[in-house]
Amino acid sequence: MQTHIEKSNGKKPMKLFIKTYGCQMNVYDSARMADVLATIGFGSTATPEDADLVVLNTCHIREKAAEKVYSELGRLKVLRDQRKAAGGNDMLIAVAGCVAQAEGQEIQRRAPAVDIVVGPQAYHRLSGMVNRLLQSRGHRETDTDFPPESKFDALPEESAPQGPAAFLTIQEGCDKFCTFCVVPYTRGAEFSRPAHDVIAEAKRLSAQGTREITLLGQNVNAYHGRSPDGGTWSLANLIQELSEIDGIDRIRFTTSHPRDMSEDLIKAFADVPALMPYLHLPVQSGADRILKKMNRGHTRQFYFDIVQQLRSARADLALSSDFIVGFPGENDEDFEATMDLVRTVGFAQAYSFKYSPRPGTPAATQDDQVPETVKSERLAHLQDVLNQQQLAFNTEMSGSEIDVLFDREGRKPGQIVGRSPWLQATHVNVENAEAKSLLGEIHRVRISRGAPNGLIGSLILDGEVA
Ligand code: SAH
Ligand code: SF4
Ligand code: F3S
Repeated sequence: MQTHIEKSNGKKPMKLFIKTYGCQMNVYDSARMADVLATIGFGSTATPEDADLVVLNTCHIREKAAEKVYSELGRLKVLRDQRKAAGGNDMLIAVAGCVAQAEGQEIQRRAPAVDIVVGPQAYHRLSGMVNRLLQSRGHRETDTDFPPESKFDALPEESAPQGPAAFLTIQEGCDKFCTFCVVPYTRGAEFSRPAHDVIAEAKRLSAQGTREITLLGQNVNAYHGRSPDGGTWSLANLIQELSEIDGIDRIRFTTSHPRDMSEDLIKAFADVPALMPYLHLPVQSGADRILKKMNRGHTRQFYFDIVQQLRSARADLALSSDFIVGFPGENDEDFEATMDLVRTVGFAQAYSFKYSPRPGTPAATQDDQVPETVKSERLAHLQDVLNQQQLAFNTEMSGSEIDVLFDREGRKPGQIVGRSPWLQATHVNVENAEAKSLLGEIHRVRISRGAPNGLIGSLILDGEVA
């Protein structure tokens, strides 16, 4: 069957629109899919309306996230049909990411308009799939393999700069099998990229103007990659090495598991100034009974101990976390233990969720599921306290002077937004003409006010802070 999509002749690139759901690894993957598709003539566009190829990079972590995909697919089908009826060009629709991996068959059944289903470990093969469809439509391309070769070896170099703050995936997959979680099934077993590749990518990012790198992995602190001399590096080793790259002034990593918070990594917070004093360390629950049922592999006391060691290594370290309320069997006392943990530790920021039973995970079939109303009440209560803590953390910054990496323009003219060391969005007003020139630079800012979602301040130095 002939397609209406004309292959690029080198003059007019085809248009690609990627919509990203889920975690930061998906954000990174979307950028890499754009790199793959750039090699066959696709350039990015900001809306699906004029796109030749739409990729939904999906998330399966909770039911709501997964369901969003089907409603979006419905909208895309309407858009495609209308455009074709009006004599416009055709549109290819691809589903990538964790829903593609977990529900490839289901997508086929519920959304026949989908042309491509590609899992998170197979997207280096996307260009081949798209090319085959450009040559002849009328069939579906599916690839949800966990190929023996690493996709990282097959990916092209980054085609577009990520900007002053960039993501770099160093580790993927998960061997922990928490009883609520789909990630070990959608992303497969733990895999660490060789340190040499990570360093090379970090150098390329730096050459493109990146000053802050966030190292990504589902279990990033379980990193154990091959070192350039043939040995193995821990995450602490890797961070030390990356901090020596010219132009890389800030390093972060996410997401960590408390069990893998090793001594050398804790020490890195004391020894490596480029390592930012902010750590996302999900705990999920404060009740030992629930932690056990979740298969988290540690107790609440273990979490307290890690936090204490981190704070002795770096006094200004702030923490964020993830929580699940209403895990099967969670009673009032268990929930109170979570509230107590939150009050004891004190978080600068947090994500909290109602437990969502996921197909194929052990907890989903337990018979002591918690009613929705109880989950909602507990979530509201927890979020109340977490929001108060976040506001208090931001408010306490007022009057202080901090270094801010400016990475985007604000909504109003002359407004510029940056990242504090604690990842707070920091808004500063400057002369209109000056705003653009500050992008990508780190400057000293005096904080005048803390707000629920960030900070407001003013520049106090002309020079750039090294
Ligand atoms: N690897 C990370 C978490 C990745 S998933 C870790 O081990 O902490 C991101 C967050 O989604 C989790 O921390 C958890 O809080 C939440 N989550 C995962 N599965 C969930 C489920 N079935 N229901 C509700 N929240 C869930
Ligand atoms: Fe999921 Fe647990 Fe693995 Fe995190 S550690 S990705 S929550 S299974
Ligand atoms: Fe979602 Fe997959 Fe990330 S399930 S949270 S996109 S690893």
